[in-house]
Amino acid sequence: MGIKIVSTGSYLPDKVLTNFDLERMVDTSDEWITTRTGIRERRISEVETTSDMATEAAVRALGESSPEEVELIVVATATPDAFFPSTACKVQAKIENKGAIAFDVSAACTGFIYGLYVADSIMRSKGVSKALVIGAERFSKIVNWKDRSTCILFGDGAGAVYLETSDEEGILGFDLGADGSYGELLAVPSVGSNEEFPYYVRMKGNEVFKVAVRTMVDSALRVLEKTGLSPKDISLLIPHQANLRIIRAIAERLGLPEEKVFVNLDRYGNTSAASIPIALDEALRSGRLKKGELALLVAFGGGFTWGSCVIKV
Ligand code: COA
Repeated sequence: MGIKIVSTGSYLPDKVLTNFDLERMVDTSDEWITTRTGIRERRISEVETTSDMATEAAVRALGESSPEEVELIVVATATPDAFFPSTACKVQAKIENKGAIAFDVSAACTGFIYGLYVADSIMRSKGVSKALVIGAERFSKIVNWKDRSTCILFGDGAGAVYLETSDEEGILGFDLGADGSYGELLAVPSVGSNEEFPYYVRMKGNEVFKVAVRTMVDSALRVLEKTGLSPKDISLLIPHQANLRIIRAIAERLGLPEEKVFVNLDRYGNTSAASIPIALDEALRSGRLKKGELALLVAFGGGFTWGSCVIKV
């Protein structure tokens, strides 16, 4: 038995916040942001909650498939609507499903790969045949809009994949891990800590940068080794959309040319756990990734966490 990504969907809020808008909010410039990150604009959710965005992405991924038949809903998010109920339970209610297993996964920007891994494992071992895995974030709510070193990076949005058991294998392998000793380099405290509200993203950007490149390259190489593949077998690298310089460094070390690397961070910034499923959806819809081709997904995030996955679409 295999597991296939049957369909995908994504949702981005309408409001666009450009680098020029940010120039009026903090001491920065379009030139600085574009050169250092590749980001030109990002989307900001004014009214949609994380679960609203997750639901819209899920509905688009489901297409004509019946929400009632979904047996498992996993939402990867660092910005849930509530401590509980989970975002997954909120999505479940909004798509009018009853009875599916539903829970959230917390692994920051690597959350979607972690979620995919958990769903894949449950489907293979517990006889679940239809699952939604969603990455959804409203980072605009946890960004300090006075901190120019972080507020320029993030955006809001959601992406979803619909998985079914299948005769064909669509999920070829994973590499996941974490190293909690790096926790303080990229963090958002919350109520369980001794820190005071408001809780904002804090980050040592240049230290994160170096570890991110090394860790994602290592993880990508490990998943290729585990699946018996080499970079030349990969039609499209879909990396977490954090920084264009990070993406280029990874592609260069894997020996992948620009046309084999998917980038949309210029339009959306870093949407954390939503970035890979949004990118995957866009890659499929635009024809950058075609039926039967292999894609390498690779992510890195707070924790630090990392994850890679090879899929055949
Ligand atoms: N506009 C203008 N100047 C800025 C700025 C901004 N938005 N943010 C920081 N600066 C300044 C700094 O204050 C510093 O000034 P100084 O030299 O006078 O002290 C200078 O720019 C360089 O700062 P530095 O942090 O060293 O820049 P950098 O080249 O490392 O780029 C990041 C900063 C955040 C873009 C980069 O480190 C990065 O992308 N890191 C990874 C972050 C990430 O992806 N996190 C999520 C991982 S999932």
